[in-house]
Amino acid sequence: MKLADINRKNWTETLSLEWSATYRYKMQTAIFNNPRIVAIIDGIMRNESDHIDIAQKHLLPEFEPKVKGFQTILFFLYLNLEFERFANKSYAGFAREAEDPRSKEDFLRLVKSEGGHAKIFREMIEQIEWQFPGSDNLPGMWLGIGFWFISEGRCNGAMRKMQS
Ligand SMILES: [Fe+2]
Ligand SMILES: [Fe+2]
Repeated sequence: MKLADINRKNWTETLSLEWSATYRYKMQTAIFNNPRIVAIIDGIMRNESDHIDIAQKHLLPEFEPKVKGFQTILFFLYLNLEFERFANKSYAGFAREAEDPRSKEDFLRLVKSEGGHAKIFREMIEQIEWQFPGSDNLPGMWLGIGFWFISEGRCNGAMRKMQS
């Protein structure tokens, strides 16, 4: 594997782990009612956002958004595509490893589903790049917003707007 490919794979995996940790801790701080435990988990969650920033800074040069006005959306769409491909590959491996036929069957279902998600993101990217080609970049627009942007769900709104 080329150095760039290894970097991309490992930082994508890191980003996925850190985002999933953030999601997990955010959910727990919302449902736990013990203030001491909530405070500790909240502190760890904030620390995970630093880890997200580190992973994103490594991934930014790998995915230079090509379309002005869509830098943030495209950057996250590239990351989503990379993640769905990674999930698809991982679950295919888990399906091969599975001894239990029901696990194998369910992993294969996930493989199919993640392949579908990857296809959707690939097509969204192609549509944006095809409709708005040749714009120059504004690198750095996304910096520092990763965590709050995602956690506040603005990304979803932006996507809905874009698709309409
Ligand atoms: Fe972490
Ligand atoms: Fe998926």
